[in-house]
Amino acid sequence: MKASAFSKLGQRTTDPAISWLMKMTLDHPHIISLAAGFTDDWSLPVEETRELLNELLASSTAARAALQYGSTLGDATLRRLTIERLRAQDRADVGGQYTPERAIITHGSQQLLYIVTECLCDSGDIILVEDPTYFVYLGIVQSHGLQCRGIPLEADGIDLIRLEHVLESLKRTGEIRRVKMLYLVSYFQNPSGVTTSYQKKVAALKLLRRYEKFAGHPIFLLEDAAYRELRFSGPEIPSALAEAKFQDRVIYAGTFSKPFATGIRVGYGLLPRALFDVAARVKGNHDFGTSNLLQQILATALQSRRYDAHLSVLQQRYQKKAKVLMRALQQHFPQAVEWRPAEGGLYIWARLARGGKSGPKSTLFETALARDVLYVPGELCYASDRTRPLPRNEMRLSFGGATDDEIREGIKRLGSVLRDCL
Ligand SMILES: Cc1ncc(COP(=O)(O)O)c(C=O)c1O
Repeated sequence: MKASAFSKLGQRTTDPAISWLMKMTLDHPHIISLAAGFTDDWSLPVEETRELLNELLASSTAARAALQYGSTLGDATLRRLTIERLRAQDRADVGGQYTPERAIITHGSQQLLYIVTECLCDSGDIILVEDPTYFVYLGIVQSHGLQCRGIPLEADGIDLIRLEHVLESLKRTGEIRRVKMLYLVSYFQNPSGVTTSYQKKVAALKLLRRYEKFAGHPIFLLEDAAYRELRFSGPEIPSALAEAKFQDRVIYAGTFSKPFATGIRVGYGLLPRALFDVAARVKGNHDFGTSNLLQQILATALQSRRYDAHLSVLQQRYQKKAKVLMRALQQHFPQAVEWRPAEGGLYIWARLARGGKSGPKSTLFETALARDVLYVPGELCYASDRTRPLPRNEMRLSFGGATDDEIREGIKRLGSVLRDCL
């Protein structure tokens, strides 16, 4: 069909990296995928969900309510439980930000990321992102014609000196007026596994505020906490919401999908007041409400504490799988490959020695495919940003979907590919 038949967004949107990775998996039916962002299949809460559904549908009145349309903002009980949970996690006893009136339930946190970006950004606007970042979010950015500036990641979050440098240079060119937000995947980041310290979040908020007078509008922090609950070691770190002074600048995106069941795709957002109504209107246009039945399943899971019981099983399970992966890395990967131990989430990020190439067209990737093992080439996780060189020597390895045996065998194969190719 003629390109002009499509909107600018339709014409602009390229195939997301995820479709390409899926195709690789389908084209190689025997492949061991250490690439997929899938969660552990074995531990999905089958029995719990059956019980929850039975309970929910046992009374015809409750069943009818669950099978009816809900409201745009989401189920009132689930919104309240969500906020109570968040407040407890943040150990925050001050601040009016923890109120259900600012919570919106979405179809996965992915929808929240999409809606917020749609509400704040026009084509040509700039988003500051971590280098590397969540590549599916980069799809939203690409599709909306937005620009990115990548801020390098350190062991405890973004490099603040670099953030300031980028803001300063955007101020100098006048482009600061196009800067709308800083997007951080703050816990056990996808893809790098890095967790941002609380101090860094607050320091970033202060920096953003300093540049608002040059931007002429608020610059928000979008905190994507998708992996927060999948923590198996290290301390609980409060979200940026806990800093009450900046409550009108923090957009918090959370999810129940990874810590319970990814097939029950329920996420949520806690939004600054000024943004809340706009986001609610846009959500109304998207779907006028997330599936009511799925929300009620989750509300019941939270209330009955089945959610917490299941989460603790998942945390132990992922801790074990991460250990399997790390042991295999120690055993099979060349010493020159750097990686950090996982404390949560689903990923380990590996960096080859300088000059090593891991991209989709590299000999390494092709040899890995030929030996039926798949990883995510690190370069897919970097925003398009001409102001810095693109690192091409990294890979994301997931311990989420693969079984223990697949992880061991997959890393053994990758280790031999690395030795043969580099
Ligand atoms: C960093 C990050 N944010 C958000 C999401 C979306 O998750 P969901 O829509 O299932 O809540 C994902 C999923 O992989 C993710 O990795």
